[in-house]
Amino acid sequence: MSDSIAKSYDELPYESHFNLLSHPDRLASMASLFGLEAPPPARCRVLELGCGVGGNLLCTAQSLPESEFVGIDLSPRQIADGRAMADGLGLKNVTQKAMSLMDVGTDFGEFDYILCHGVYSWVPEAVQARILEIGAQHLAPRGVFYLSYNVYPGWHQRAVAREAMRYHTRHLTDPLERVKRGRQFLDFLAASTIPPNTPYSLALQQEIDLLKKVSDTYVFHEHLEDENRPVYFHELAERAAGVGLQYLSAAWFNLLEASVPPQVRASLDGFADDRIGREQYLDLILNRTFRQSLLCRQSAPVRPSPSAEAIPGLLFTAMSQPESAAPDLVSGQPEPFLTMSGDRVNIDSPRIKAAIVALNALWPRSAGFEALRRESLALLGHRGDEAVADAEADRRQFAEMLLQAVTSTLIEPHVHEPAVATEPGERPRVTPMARQQAGSGVKVVNLRNGFALLRDLDRLIVPMLDGTRDRGALESTLLEMTLGGQIHLRHEGQPITDPDILRPMLEEQVEATLRRLVGEALLLPSV
Ligand SMILES: C[S@@+](CC[C@H](N)C(=O)[O-])C[C@H]1O[C@@H](n2cnc3c(N)ncnc32)[C@H](O)[C@@H]1O
Repeated sequence: MSDSIAKSYDELPYESHFNLLSHPDRLASMASLFGLEAPPPARCRVLELGCGVGGNLLCTAQSLPESEFVGIDLSPRQIADGRAMADGLGLKNVTQKAMSLMDVGTDFGEFDYILCHGVYSWVPEAVQARILEIGAQHLAPRGVFYLSYNVYPGWHQRAVAREAMRYHTRHLTDPLERVKRGRQFLDFLAASTIPPNTPYSLALQQEIDLLKKVSDTYVFHEHLEDENRPVYFHELAERAAGVGLQYLSAAWFNLLEASVPPQVRASLDGFADDRIGREQYLDLILNRTFRQSLLCRQSAPVRPSPSAEAIPGLLFTAMSQPESAAPDLVSGQPEPFLTMSGDRVNIDSPRIKAAIVALNALWPRSAGFEALRRESLALLGHRGDEAVADAEADRRQFAEMLLQAVTSTLIEPHVHEPAVATEPGERPRVTPMARQQAGSGVKVVNLRNGFALLRDLDRLIVPMLDGTRDRGALESTLLEMTLGGQIHLRHEGQPITDPDILRPMLEEQVEATLRRLVGEALLLPSV
């Protein structure tokens, strides 16, 4: 079986991307909220099981240069591609090995963080068991194990489309041909069910809509591979407990979960008196298909819910901003804020409104608890603690408010502050990975573990930002590119070709671009 899995990924490598939810900064922050003080991300050891070409491993390794990363994958081709990429990026803190995770031995040692994304559900039972054993045998005492997997009940519905696609393409061998024919067959099927408009055709249509948004490599490895073994959450938790691991938390907070009405929650609490049971009932309510879970050693101290006690020890950045340019912070009236995913959330708490505005002003830097507490008071017109009768009580209340903002995904918690510039500097510099990603047109991961929003001109400038060019050099290169026809600057519809007109225009564009790149958290501090 492992030969056929390796062959399938050699033939059609998986498009592997950076995964913010498995970054050690996020893992340690979540662990802290749930009572576990995980090892500092700045100097840690990380193992990624089934790392593929290393889309996640290499980005994460670059963001934590003092930490050590080991990635293993069964597919020699993906590992070879990943090594070439790591060499090209000059990464010295990564080892990539082409091997089965079944052969991970004691010589691998202990890891502070173990990551296994998009693997568990797509391997035979024996490999699934080994994944959990590796967690049990190689995780540091306060380490965190990130594991993602397909779950029931949601996968009962998705499996209908998978099985139809697999049956229809069973005689084909070329992976991409199978994806193409499988997609076509699903369209045909959804339009042809008799009777029409049944839950069956609706389920097929939902899957078609979902698959329209994803790559062919995803469709192949999710729907057409031989292995796809979803589990119920409680089964996974039992398997983990069987090897000495326990459920710590979800990898991040889920707004759908937060929307479960209190009376439904009360019923769930009546059905289950333990955390695993309550989580399982939530999956049944939400028809969940996929989980990203954090596990830790059974002996590690863990809280059943996130606690405000951890808040004073964390750093924060904003994940939302006021919709209005002049938001009303002071009154308790609801004020609309936009989250990073584009949702509109009304916030009435003046302190939280002020905290988010303060964090946006500080971006791309984070703020610690005490600085944020004072800044939020200052934005509401108070100097220091003069407005609060009892500073200790204010700290406790503010910590509770921040916790709510974090669980509502309005504010992001951190334990690690990356090196990030707040000014472009004389010879602006981005990471080798950002240069490579910008140049190849893919999403660019920024220094705050998000994706930068880039315009066309940014994509031309970012690859040049290796710290050797000052503004004059950047402008000269852009001038050459404009005169050579690679960039088109126009006035009243006509291309501008006069260097004397182009120079000041480019000067302005370069400055504006560099400022925007600071805002996109892409520029490294000057050396
Ligand atoms: C769907 S891909 C996910 C890759 C990567 N984690 C990501 O999220 O982009 C699954 C990966 O698991 C690897 N894999 C499957 N069985 C394995 C095993 N026994 N040992 C190591 N890697 C394995 C495959 O080669 C493949 O690269």
